[in-house]
Amino acid sequence: MKPTDILKQEHRAIEQMLAVLGKICDMLEWGERVNPEHLDLAITFIREFADRCHHAKEEKLLFPAMESAGVPRDGGPIGVMLSEHDEGRQFVRGMASASAGYRNGTANAAANFTGNARSFIALLSEHIKKEDDILFMMADTHLTLEKQAELASEFDRVEHEEIGVGKHEEFHRLLNTMKNIYLPSDSTKTRL
Ligand SMILES: [Fe+2]
Ligand SMILES: [Fe+2]
Repeated sequence: MKPTDILKQEHRAIEQMLAVLGKICDMLEWGERVNPEHLDLAITFIREFADRCHHAKEEKLLFPAMESAGVPRDGGPIGVMLSEHDEGRQFVRGMASASAGYRNGTANAAANFTGNARSFIALLSEHIKKEDDILFMMADTHLTLEKQAELASEFDRVEHEEIGVGKHEEFHRLLNTMKNIYLPSDSTKTRL
């Protein structure tokens, strides 16, 4: 599989967790109680799968390969993608601290959580679209087939180093568990 196809497949899984997170936000905004454990599980998925696994592949491998192939980093699409990853991390930090407050019954914790989560969902949804529609097309045209094959095998190494053997399947189960709870009508199972 092409490296950009692997990343696109991961985007589909991340989008499903964003949909779960959106449903959790709906419930909190309607004043319904949400199991605090589930807020933490969504954050864990985002931090471990979306950031440490997926963003690491982009930041440590795909983007540097594109730069070496002549795609500018600063003032270009790669710089924008990197700054959006950082912006996203700030929203996730906000979600994590609001989640701790929610568990302890702190006033406004639910609103703080949804504020950060809604911003994160909007940011990452647009980010994924830009990568799928523009950046990955640039990668496919700039990178030789040899380089693409090298990247695809390097992705495996990063995954093992960053999240460890067997973790991918664990995230797959976590995503499906959360989908079954929050999006029960969406019966499609995801492949990570
Ligand atoms: Fe990205
Ligand atoms: Fe991405």
